[in-house]
Amino acid sequence: MKIELVEDCKYDIELIVLKNFKSFQKSEKKILKKSGFEAKENQIELIGSRLFVGIEKFKNEDIKIAFANAIKFLKKSKFEKIKIDLARENQEYKLEDIVQGLLLGSYEFDKYKSKKSENKKRIFIDISKSAKSKENLQVALEKSLNICSSVNMVRDIVNTAPEDFYPKTMASKAKEIAKNNNLECKIYGEEYLKINNYNAMYAVGRASRHESQLIHLNYKPSNPAGTRRKNPKGKIVLVGKGLTYDCGGLSLKSGEGMVSMKCDKSGASALLGIMNSLNAINCEYEVDAILGAVENMIGGDAYKPDDILKAKNGVTIEVRNTDAEGRLVLADCLCYAQENIKDIDTIFDFATLTGACIIGLGEYTSAVLGHNEKLKKQIKQASKKSGELVGFLPFNRYLPNMIKSEIADIVNSTSSKAGSTITAALFLDKFIKKENKKKWLHFDIAGPAYREKSWGYNPYGATGAAVRLILEFLQREK
Ligand code: BES
Ligand code: ZN
Ligand code: ZN
Repeated sequence: MKIELVEDCKYDIELIVLKNFKSFQKSEKKILKKSGFEAKENQIELIGSRLFVGIEKFKNEDIKIAFANAIKFLKKSKFEKIKIDLARENQEYKLEDIVQGLLLGSYEFDKYKSKKSENKKRIFIDISKSAKSKENLQVALEKSLNICSSVNMVRDIVNTAPEDFYPKTMASKAKEIAKNNNLECKIYGEEYLKINNYNAMYAVGRASRHESQLIHLNYKPSNPAGTRRKNPKGKIVLVGKGLTYDCGGLSLKSGEGMVSMKCDKSGASALLGIMNSLNAINCEYEVDAILGAVENMIGGDAYKPDDILKAKNGVTIEVRNTDAEGRLVLADCLCYAQENIKDIDTIFDFATLTGACIIGLGEYTSAVLGHNEKLKKQIKQASKKSGELVGFLPFNRYLPNMIKSEIADIVNSTSSKAGSTITAALFLDKFIKKENKKKWLHFDIAGPAYREKSWGYNPYGATGAAVRLILEFLQREK
């Protein structure tokens, strides 16, 4: 599918998203009414060479969903050249909303289908009635196309089967993204983890035939040619859980519970998407991404419940459940980040960490936890702008007791499941240095990262959760 900005064009079909028929002439109103079309949400009606799509509000998310529904309909039709007016009557859409609706809404994962779906549609966005300049709109289009391709790349990665996407595949993908985007990329294998006492991360991947990989990408804002070098606005560190498969380890998941656990690499995969768009958004921050790519498997060499692991920062962990592996990987990745990156301003981690998060907040919302209310407010703003849903879960003085161990410093899994999204975050908190406590937020993306059904402009399977949210956060004014 190709999206172009035009001021005039030949087309097969015109796509009209509308709330009511107010602006139409009497005779047209009659035709629309006769067809049964009432401009209700999600209603689609093809009349001649016009496709009408109903909408309740002209808000960003509604626009994206309307265009997603329209393109899904048109994909199945013979129409090849589709025209959309950016501005109609008193209404001007945000170009980004149209582009996201179309590109995120038309995504299909067909890597394993013998019959591939081709999408040769051409979209002409008519900007002749827009109040904005052509140049500005072209810049906005390029940026949106880039962001959508990063989100769809993350979806492809997460949807790929664990036999085809394992820690070394993640490392190769990181190298490729680094090369294309002029990023620095360092990869460390199990030998490095062992020698340097990243014992928690190392233990999780030990039974897998795929070697664990700690991946470190770095982006530095470049100075536009001819300008004086500007110092970065600050340093942001992103850490991601990259379990390319989580069978639970010896605390084996049920057959049903294991299905879709290729999604457990969603946190690290999201970071690849974010890093892939930093140049496109002209990011003024220096950004580091640390990915813990590991496979949690069973075998004679597997780590076990009752094992005691000493993480990089010296904290000892009593393993009570090998299925609570993500926090072990993140613990050492957080230690790596804080030891190797100087002058951190902000540190975020992303993980499909707990099933409880889906129970608590539902399937569509990421949980955000941390000690800094101001930072959370900024995330709330980025959430509103990007359309990615977040909910905040609170710490309190009593919950930390739940991760205490009788024989080590902490347990990796509490005896009660009560509040287990929060206790998982409190576990991670043990690996955040004192001086960084207020700089840290934890994102549990277990809900929205992967669903076995489509919703809004998200497809069946992986969604690319956190990419648009964090790119929005990185572009905030204050
Ligand atoms: N990867 C899972 C969490 C998960 C569940 C992600 C469902 C996406 C969908 C994680 O490693 C896990 O197994 N967590 C356990 C922790 C428990 C053993 C303390 C859980 O949530 O049940
Ligand atoms: Zn697990
Ligand atoms: Zn997991």
